[in-house]
Amino acid sequence: MSNYHIKHLEEYYQVYRKSVRNPEIFWEEIAEEHFLWRKKWDTVLEWDFATPEVKWFQGAQLNITENCIDRHLATRGDKTAILFEPNNPDDDAEHITYNQLYRRVNQFANVLKEQGVKKGDRVCIYVPMIPELAIATLACARIGAIHSVVFAGFSATALATRINDSDCKIVITSDGSYRGAKTIDLKGIVDEALESCDGVESVLVAKRINSDITMKEGRDKWLQPLLDEASNQCKAEVMNAEDPLFILYTSGSTGKPKGMVHTTAGYMVYTAYTFKNAFQYRENDVYWCTADIGWITGHSYIVYGPLCNGATTVMFEGVPSYPDYSRFWDIVEKHKVSQFYTAPTAIRALAKQGVEFVEKHDLSSLKVLGSVGEPINEEAWHWYNDNIGKGKSPIIDSWWQTETGGIMITPIPYVTPTKPTYATLPFIGIQPCIMDEDGQELKGNQVEGRLCIKFPWPSIARTIWGNHQRYKDTYFSTYENKYFTGDGALRDEVGYYRITGRVDDVIIVSGHNLGTAPIEDAINEHPAVAESAIVGFPHDIKGSALYGYVTLKDSGEGRNHDNLRIEINQLISDRIGPIAKLNKIQFTEGLPKTRSGKIMRRILRKIAEKDTSNLGDISTLLNPECVQDIMDNAL
Ligand code: WT7
Repeated sequence: MSNYHIKHLEEYYQVYRKSVRNPEIFWEEIAEEHFLWRKKWDTVLEWDFATPEVKWFQGAQLNITENCIDRHLATRGDKTAILFEPNNPDDDAEHITYNQLYRRVNQFANVLKEQGVKKGDRVCIYVPMIPELAIATLACARIGAIHSVVFAGFSATALATRINDSDCKIVITSDGSYRGAKTIDLKGIVDEALESCDGVESVLVAKRINSDITMKEGRDKWLQPLLDEASNQCKAEVMNAEDPLFILYTSGSTGKPKGMVHTTAGYMVYTAYTFKNAFQYRENDVYWCTADIGWITGHSYIVYGPLCNGATTVMFEGVPSYPDYSRFWDIVEKHKVSQFYTAPTAIRALAKQGVEFVEKHDLSSLKVLGSVGEPINEEAWHWYNDNIGKGKSPIIDSWWQTETGGIMITPIPYVTPTKPTYATLPFIGIQPCIMDEDGQELKGNQVEGRLCIKFPWPSIARTIWGNHQRYKDTYFSTYENKYFTGDGALRDEVGYYRITGRVDDVIIVSGHNLGTAPIEDAINEHPAVAESAIVGFPHDIKGSALYGYVTLKDSGEGRNHDNLRIEINQLISDRIGPIAKLNKIQFTEGLPKTRSGKIMRRILRKIAEKDTSNLGDISTLLNPECVQDIMDNAL
């Protein structure tokens, strides 16, 4: 029997050792016992990080949708697969059972076929968080088309770049989307994007907001009438293990976005196995990840991982602040959510609003809390732990990336003792290492450096679409024979990992390496501070000095800024040392963020360096308006 479900720490260590000593035997057992294969593999793993090339389960044949849907029908046909919670809390939630999902995915797959979509074709999906988004991705997988989901908050330019990079023939979208009290004209954005996308032949439009949109003759078609006429039976295309499943774009530090390519078998095995263990998912749990399916978190842990386990996965269309800041907790109570997975930025935003919004709700169904996307600062961790988990639900601070496909470093809840701001231990099968700048591995505990992975895992992205050289340069050229994550990390005295932030955020002050995350943690401990970001700027004597951008909570209004500056620096001095004190502290109304909530330090760095001639494209930011304000008040 394979160890599909880890139950205690000793078992974790035992299974971890097995997975590292004998990865092929380990993953073969997991794959053999828990998935549906049309044909088994000839080899478990072939790899070479120098080429680079990674192949898992070569020779195997399968379809991931048979694993996500068909095989559950006999035992879970009437169980809710997708629980759709609409933007407006007065509208009914929709429970889509596995039986219904089966029929809807097949209908959609047949519509795609009628539109001429074939195995290997790229399909762009630009749809808000409505059931059609999940169904469209699964429909592509059903017929072997490669989906490229573009987050439906991206601009027309960003959409066009992505459509053209992977030569999508067809775009799936909706007439519009809801976002709290606002509506967004998605179809208008698609029309604008397609002015520069000659390759797109057809556009399928789901109806969501019933707006009056123009349909381009011969190109645009309403989706629903086509679905109504389509058969709800569609044979699953038999895919090879290494056939691409999807492309998902992620921004690099330079250049155009990178289309990360994930393939079928390894991605399936790893996302399913991590989902089961990292969330300790049990049969009757209701699992909710608040991410958008437009990000890897949504692909792996709203769609594929949960459905592969026959889980009930919540899809939320709205925003945490609508109709008010208690919406998340309202949903947790209403659907009796057991696992709740969100981002530190959301936690900080909600914490800023105060506990009144939490206290109105019964959160006793919660068993596991998750955090992902950026380092979670100590204050946010405690707020989450105390007010949401009530000290009873372990927080899994899960570190991973678009490129890794699945969770890489994380506590296993109820198994791994947690430690605030630490992602703790590598997941089963993951072999992290810490490197110094000269390319030497730092062995033993209590070391800090750059985080690499030494050995392939099943869901590693196989290439960058159309640019294998860039894949090699970005991930496999910095350190020989290792996957370089771009993150800094430290390993503490017991072997726990803490992610210290992107290494391009490391600032060297008077010869000392300072990670931005711990400094930000210290600042955020100040009761008046809501959020902060640190960047470096050139300094005559120190080489670099620190510039802090600090957003205050409402309570900070009317406070004397000079006193606050002194207090903040005192805190930093207390927590890290005088070396980490900030030279400049600018109080801002907001910090520029990507749509996924990451603070755009690149922009802040330019402002701190007084080099604002080329800030790059800020139109895809969540809040581009704050940039001007920060520039106007720069120190
Ligand atoms: C980068 C990857 C993976 C899903 C969402 C982000 C940072 C992610 C953590 C964490 C500290 C984290 C890293 C990583 N990151 N999770 N738990 N603690 N940092 O995917 O957009 O590809 O970003 O997010 O810097 O490299 P992504």
